[in-house]
Amino acid sequence: MKKRVAGLFISLICLFALSACSSSSNSSENKDKQLVMGTSGDYPPFEYVDTANGEEIIGFDADLAKALGGKTGYEITVKDMDFNGLITSLQSGKVDFVMAGMEATPERKKNADFTEPYFRSDISMVVDKKSGIKTVEDIKGKVVGVQVGSIQAEKAKELQKIVDFQLETRDRVPDLVQEINSGRFDGVLMEDVVSKGYLEKNDNLTTISVPSNETGGAAIAFQKDSELTSKFNDALKEMKENGEMDKLVAKWFNGEKSLKIAE
Ligand code: ARG
Repeated sequence: MKKRVAGLFISLICLFALSACSSSSNSSENKDKQLVMGTSGDYPPFEYVDTANGEEIIGFDADLAKALGGKTGYEITVKDMDFNGLITSLQSGKVDFVMAGMEATPERKKNADFTEPYFRSDISMVVDKKSGIKTVEDIKGKVVGVQVGSIQAEKAKELQKIVDFQLETRDRVPDLVQEINSGRFDGVLMEDVVSKGYLEKNDNLTTISVPSNETGGAAIAFQKDSELTSKFNDALKEMKENGEMDKLVAKWFNGEKSLKIAE
């Protein structure tokens, strides 16, 4: 009887030792399986902080990153920074990938590898309804704002070849809207799906269309030659095919739906 109890005791100890052992190896494994996502949390509904409900960065990109992480076996943590510093932070290894509604431009491709695009949108110009600005010609002699380092900044330089206006930049997108509301800016170039949210919250704002307004679509940036790019491409493809992407788009872009999903 005593022997039995002792035996049981020993096997219990062994069990504990084993589980302790395996759990510690698990946690070190998990550490390798973590990826830091760099983003610029100033861009609803792609990524933003819902200040009424905490400090966490939420949005389409955050959800998509987590879903892709689930499929590729990585836990994702999110790091917020200015949009303009994202690619440099990726290169220096401060973050493992960048997801920020960011398009794979030729310039950016020199410094990072991108997945296939996952979401496409157009650019328009946000103006105050009272300004009387109806067409791009109307911004002649006026002040237009864009986010530093964005394709909207590039777009603005192209527009300047057609119509003469003063170009101003800000690091964060909400500040651009703020400058229209305070009367310092007459227009802001913005992705239409992003401006939509600001229009809903600011009755005084509207958008006008700009020429050649299509964008190449948002993609995920990884370090050059990273093996993660193809892994995430596979996961993206799976999500586009099995309808998970449709669901996320419907959740964050209220029904904007799959025409916006980049093929
Ligand atoms: N789509 C634009 C670009 O690729 C702007 C993205 C801005 N993103 C942000 N999170 N602020 O340049």
